[in-house]
Amino acid sequence: KITIDLKSKGAQISEDLHGIFFEEISHGGEGGLYAELIQNRSFEESRIPEGCVLDSGWIIPPRTEHFGAHRVVDWKMPFEAKSDYPAWSMTSVGNAKANISLDLQNPLHVETPRSLKIDIVNADASNVVKIVNDGYWGIKVDQHATYRLTFYARPQGYRGDVTARLVSIDGQVLAEQKFHIRDVNEWQNFNGILKAKTSHQKAKFELVFSSVGKVWIDFVSLFPTKTFKDRANGMRLDLANYLAELKPAFLRWPGGCFVEGISVESAPNWKRSLGPVEKRSGTYSPWGYWSTDGIGYHEFLQFCEDINAKAMYVFNCGIACEMRSGVHVKDDGVPAIIADVLDAIEYAIGPKDSKWGSVRAANGHPDPFPLKYIEVGNEQVGVEYAKRFNVFYKAIKERYPQLEILAAMGIAHLNQPTIKAIDKMDFADEHAYKAAGWAMNYHDWYDKYERNDWKLYVGEYACNAGVGNGNMTAALNDATFILGMERNSDMIKMSSYAPLLENVNDTDWPVNLIRFDNARSFGRISYYAIKMLNENKASYNLSTTVDAPVTKDIPFFTGGIALSTWDTQAEFRDVEIIENGKVVFQSGNAGNNDWHFVGGKWSEENGVIAQRTEGAWPMAMLQRKTFSNYTLKLKARKISGYNAF
Ligand code: AHR
Repeated sequence: KITIDLKSKGAQISEDLHGIFFEEISHGGEGGLYAELIQNRSFEESRIPEGCVLDSGWIIPPRTEHFGAHRVVDWKMPFEAKSDYPAWSMTSVGNAKANISLDLQNPLHVETPRSLKIDIVNADASNVVKIVNDGYWGIKVDQHATYRLTFYARPQGYRGDVTARLVSIDGQVLAEQKFHIRDVNEWQNFNGILKAKTSHQKAKFELVFSSVGKVWIDFVSLFPTKTFKDRANGMRLDLANYLAELKPAFLRWPGGCFVEGISVESAPNWKRSLGPVEKRSGTYSPWGYWSTDGIGYHEFLQFCEDINAKAMYVFNCGIACEMRSGVHVKDDGVPAIIADVLDAIEYAIGPKDSKWGSVRAANGHPDPFPLKYIEVGNEQVGVEYAKRFNVFYKAIKERYPQLEILAAMGIAHLNQPTIKAIDKMDFADEHAYKAAGWAMNYHDWYDKYERNDWKLYVGEYACNAGVGNGNMTAALNDATFILGMERNSDMIKMSSYAPLLENVNDTDWPVNLIRFDNARSFGRISYYAIKMLNENKASYNLSTTVDAPVTKDIPFFTGGIALSTWDTQAEFRDVEIIENGKVVFQSGNAGNNDWHFVGGKWSEENGVIAQRTEGAWPMAMLQRKTFSNYTLKLKARKISGYNAF
């Protein structure tokens, strides 16, 4: 029996409850939302990220191994790029002969010093050399569509033409244009429009050379002329439409772990992401690949305006990702970070004659952008973080009182030592990745939160374990979770699902909202659940009581402890739970062969259910309704954390 008190009027549901969170993960931007079709357009992708070389000569590695859908970090692996020029290759036809290499001499721009040197020793009209780009796992070509090409070439003794082409897998020419190069040993810029005669799902791009001599090429860029709002350096139409159709109240950018960086030096830098795209040196995503910064700070703000969303800018507060290097900038480095974030704000909303407002105006946008929220770092809790937060809060509020400042709280339940050490914040951003069944069993989770003088932003949530790549179960869990947020709308004012976008050819995270490859895209059921709940948001809460008999316990995450890891080779050894001084659970040291944790099966001991789930995000779970006064001891390989509920 459900009783609703129609006369009661609880908290208003926040207008800003549903936003979106963009991060460069799983090629969400590069080879995703960013409409660029050429991968590694500036030949910079084999670089070792700045600030990532350790004293030992090893670098703090990106994720270097691939296990099924989920790539993982092996902290001891040296950085090895797969090739000097990823996504590019050379083929020769007939007797043509050439060598290619990466070159740092006479760069097109100092910010992007590498170019591709092509030394052609034998070639003519029918014996040609081709420099081929695979795009992002293929290039989608549509009949009659047009593609805007730009590239730079510097010849030395090369007296031929160069032909740019889109070709099908079996070599059929889909579109082409010939360019004449002057043999003057200077960088020359070539621009053209390729018009497709035929459609093809997995085309490649080629530059074809038919003469001997040396030629350097750099910044080879190809965009569909049709992008979202027809912007030149724009967004892929289908993916941008998915985002716009969610009608997000805000857009959080640029991360996530991306903000934290592998090191502070390699973390994103908004100033480096402005201006001509060919001069942007890029940012190495901690998810294991380079971002060209084509979606830079200006493009982010512009996109917010284009989809009618408020902008939320997250900045690196001088702390690199704890799981990578955890490096903290010393106190004397903090004023520079403050100055930098104030510059970023001035760029977004300062008057057009202010220092950074005038740069915005020169970049084509004299009016302010809709910047409303500033978040200090990502998932960085602790007293040290709190002390830093206090300094940033004061400095930003003094100059821009109209902005709301968010403190990062991490994944676990609101970190009390952090909160106690924070003087004042507008929002706490707590993340909530949960397993299947959690939302149903803990539908009253937020009801129990102590109310404070700050609001809660659930900056990342998803049901992402025990649901494959995301299915109806995941959507029902997400919907239930959202209703729990609505019910607590006196406190929870904003939320965003994470991650948002996934190129299925290079997945970094098990469950994502919108999946795509180079040609196709779809929103998972959770996408439609969020869309429906956003479009049909309640105005306010009514007092409701539900009187339903409990039929049975769900043998799925009924509470207890969840050990989780991001490593598909995870092992949980010597796990021991001592409750009230008595051992209630003890696994051996046989790791994954221990009977308690053999995948897919339950084991039970003293009412404690143990399981190790298989799949993209394995978890060991120890469950029982409640543990009282327990301690947990474990030795686990590569464990990412545990939650106790
Ligand atoms: O959404 C994926 C990752 O999850 C984000 O980068 C990080 O903030 C969180 O841990």
